[in-house]
Amino acid sequence: MSANSIDSLQHEGRHFPPSDSFVSTAVASPDLYDQANRDRLGFWADRSRELLHWHTPFTEVLDWSDAPFARWFADGELNVAYNCLDRHVLAGNGDRVAINWEGEPGDSRTLTYSELTAEVKRAANLLIKLGIGTGDTVAIYLPNVPEAVIAMLAVVRIGAIHSVVFGGFSAESLRSRIDDAQAKLVITADGGWRKGKVSPLKPAVDGALALDKGTPLSVEHVLVLKRGDNDIDWVEGRDLWWHDEIETVGSEHEAVGFPAETPLFILYTSGTTGKPKGIIHTTGGYLTQVTFTHKNVFDLNPEKDVYWCSADVGWITGHSYTVYGPLSNGATSVLYEGTPDSPHPGRWFEIIEKYGVSIFYTAPTAIRSFMKVGRQVPDAFDLSSIRLLGSVGEPINPEAWMWYREVVGAGTAPIVDTWWQTETGAIMVSALPGITSLKPGSAQVALPGISISVLDETGVAVEPGSGGLLAITEPWPSMLRGIWGDPERFVETYWSKFRDAFDTPVYFAGDGARLDADGDLWLLGRVDDVMNVSGHRLSTAEIESALVSHPIVAESAVVGAADEATGQAVVAFVVLRSEHAGDQTVDEASVLLRGHVTEQIGAIARPRQVFIVEELPKTRSGKIMRRLLQDVAEGRAIGDTTTLADASVMQLIADRYKK
Ligand code: PRX
Repeated sequence: MSANSIDSLQHEGRHFPPSDSFVSTAVASPDLYDQANRDRLGFWADRSRELLHWHTPFTEVLDWSDAPFARWFADGELNVAYNCLDRHVLAGNGDRVAINWEGEPGDSRTLTYSELTAEVKRAANLLIKLGIGTGDTVAIYLPNVPEAVIAMLAVVRIGAIHSVVFGGFSAESLRSRIDDAQAKLVITADGGWRKGKVSPLKPAVDGALALDKGTPLSVEHVLVLKRGDNDIDWVEGRDLWWHDEIETVGSEHEAVGFPAETPLFILYTSGTTGKPKGIIHTTGGYLTQVTFTHKNVFDLNPEKDVYWCSADVGWITGHSYTVYGPLSNGATSVLYEGTPDSPHPGRWFEIIEKYGVSIFYTAPTAIRSFMKVGRQVPDAFDLSSIRLLGSVGEPINPEAWMWYREVVGAGTAPIVDTWWQTETGAIMVSALPGITSLKPGSAQVALPGISISVLDETGVAVEPGSGGLLAITEPWPSMLRGIWGDPERFVETYWSKFRDAFDTPVYFAGDGARLDADGDLWLLGRVDDVMNVSGHRLSTAEIESALVSHPIVAESAVVGAADEATGQAVVAFVVLRSEHAGDQTVDEASVLLRGHVTEQIGAIARPRQVFIVEELPKTRSGKIMRRLLQDVAEGRAIGDTTTLADASVMQLIADRYKK
């Protein structure tokens, strides 16, 4: 999105103040802002005490003396699984449904808080039996099934660390994550259901573990859930069936408290270099902010609401708002295994009707794909249970916002557009329903207790009406605590941009933003070499290095091109090695390389197009001018080429690929 398009949207001036009836019952109250403004740390301490069970209460809120390495609630002890499970059962809510699970083929399963607690206790005992202890890492590579949630909670219950890898990632990607975190155990399934068929997972684990990386393998066991019933290979001694093993352990397990800075999970995300970053989150601060935001941003009434976040547990949205937020709040959730359009385009709406979903949280890419098939699809279902809608992952264009409200929200449901990141752990910028007057397309304001500024390159706050860089100027409870194994990269990537302008480290989010005259934020997309495809972050460098790992490729440049369905799409420009240039047609090379990226990273990174070119446009200092390639990818006239070493290179590319 260009700054101009944002500008013109703002002039529409549509506002949707909350209805009186919503205001009268809203969970969030305006005094949250007042309290947080008066005493930010006191505000978070109060939220943490009120929302969580502490085995040992904390006395200290924030230790920022080793900034940017933060410690929140550090002398307190808690157990995340106890907060998500046992305490609800002890409070008499054991019969409340925790998870309404729906498999893609139409099978379903309901787990109450008592049942889920029992399953997690058993799984925790199994982990202990397999030699997993405090501080060990466990890789989880599962479909969106209850066992994914059970596995995550079992790991954290015993003070171990999970690293969930999205099932769409390839064997290569899985292996690099296993190695980086030195995972001792991999929990996977034979396969899971996706788009009407079984998509194999265990074979990818086998492939990952068989890769010769020249280093000893950290994995001792592979625990396999039976789900897809697909044929799989078996390594005796290493591989174990979940259903066999779980029978061998007891059902009692007492949750003990762990210090609040105990690592909870590692989640890998893309950055500006080819190597994914293992983002570290810890327990006390993370659970505080996730629980608070889940309750207040989604106006949650756990006794009544049925909440559904469509994100896969393999992404941060799945961690924070499919698993930890809802369970910590004692909510009833829906968990769905498959894709939105399988076996029919109304599948998600059918699920909303079936479970009476009242709060629905999804990504703009899904909303746009529903707009494309037309409102007759959702109109065929009873969506009257919906009372609040959420959006996350990328800017939601006002047209999609209006459609979402009109068609899914019956023209009345408030929409919360939530800005946050893997690194922030929880929502940072959003309207609060019942308080904020909504503005389609704007993520609006920082939540209470969160300090956001839009800064220019030198760190000076921009005037209302101007654009700049989104920065977080004060530490927040669910902030990342580091990059696994790489503290320098953590400091350099997130805390160095405004080093000279402030006395204390300021976090640079990598996003451009614009502040309007009312002080509302409009997100403008990434300002670094990271693109956003279907709400998922991909790094240009990572895809480029996947491409050049193929023997026929000499050089490559990847850009994110605007795409109606996915927000941005991966478009690759590739120079072939001269000795291979004639080996196949341009079309064949393109098919080959798209497949290669899928193998190396996963289908999410597969380029929409691969353009074979003779040379890449470079400046005299050798820097690839991606801006010009983006012009070609988006079918525009080519911009200023005067700084190119050889302007004819760009002319050749443009002539060949002009739309
Ligand atoms: O560019 C922003 C975009 O997604 C990035 C974070 O990606 P990830 O860590 O994968 O987490 C996605 C889900 C939290 C951000 O830097 N982004 C996320 N939410 C929004 C958004 N852009 C605009 N509006 C949003 N609501």
